[in-house]
Amino acid sequence: MQQNYLYPQVFMVDGSQNLNPYVPPPAWALPTLKKKRKLDWRTVGTILLLNLVLLALAGLALGTVYLLELQKEIQEMKQDNGGKGPVAHKIIGAQNFTQPPKDLRIAAHLTGDSITAGSNPLVWDDQKGHAFTSGILYKDRGLVINKAGIFFVYSKIYFRSYVCDRKNLEHIVFKRTDRYRKELILMEAKKTNYCSGNGWATNSYQAGIIHLLKGESIYVNVSDSRLVDFAESKTFFGLYKL
Ligand SMILES: *[C@@H]1O[C@H](CO)[C@@H](O)[C@H](O)[C@H]1NC(C)=O
Ligand SMILES: *[C@@H]1O[C@H](CO)[C@@H](O)[C@H](O)[C@H]1NC(C)=O
Repeated sequence: MQQNYLYPQVFMVDGSQNLNPYVPPPAWALPTLKKKRKLDWRTVGTILLLNLVLLALAGLALGTVYLLELQKEIQEMKQDNGGKGPVAHKIIGAQNFTQPPKDLRIAAHLTGDSITAGSNPLVWDDQKGHAFTSGILYKDRGLVINKAGIFFVYSKIYFRSYVCDRKNLEHIVFKRTDRYRKELILMEAKKTNYCSGNGWATNSYQAGIIHLLKGESIYVNVSDSRLVDFAESKTFFGLYKL
């Protein structure tokens, strides 16, 4: 009895029972090898199938999450843009005029704007018709230099009136700069004796190559803006960077 009691402890551990005929197989013993293999194929198949289904579900969930994130991002971009339009607009609009891209040619052509008749400096149109600005800001009646350089600056004024009262005509292109309090005249033209009878017209055109610094701005004054014809083809002001 003492021997019987000792043996099972040893043999049951490695699963080969019945070397000792007196010890019954334990209740918890694994099923026989044949039965076990049959069950395994079925189980493995089921597990594989389950895994595939889980994988597919996980993929779907991930896809949904990704789409939702994308949608959120687009919404945020639209909101940043003030809901004004496509994202491309935002990128162009966000451009800080003090740092234009290198390949952008700085140029502007401003045309007469009659709403300002009677006041100086002249107000210009920077968008309608032939007018445009590229890489430079038109602000408070002037062009704001965003990058130091050498500029070709030009301006034409078409003066006309039905009355010849022989006042001198003046056409001045000047700049404002932080370094001086006074405005500095860049180009000026003066006309006397330009009319003899009633109903007259005359042009003043000036152009020059001028060195301008960042932060400076340029404007046009005339002696009497009520004598100016503001048609876009007759009165204009512009520049381009060399
Ligand atoms: C550009 O950015 C500078 C500072 O980085 C700022 O002082 C300036 O006002 C900006 N200019 C424009 C036109 O937004
Ligand atoms: C331009 O006109 C304005 C308004 O009359 C005047 O204050 C300013 O001194 C003028 N500037 C120049 C350079 O003539």
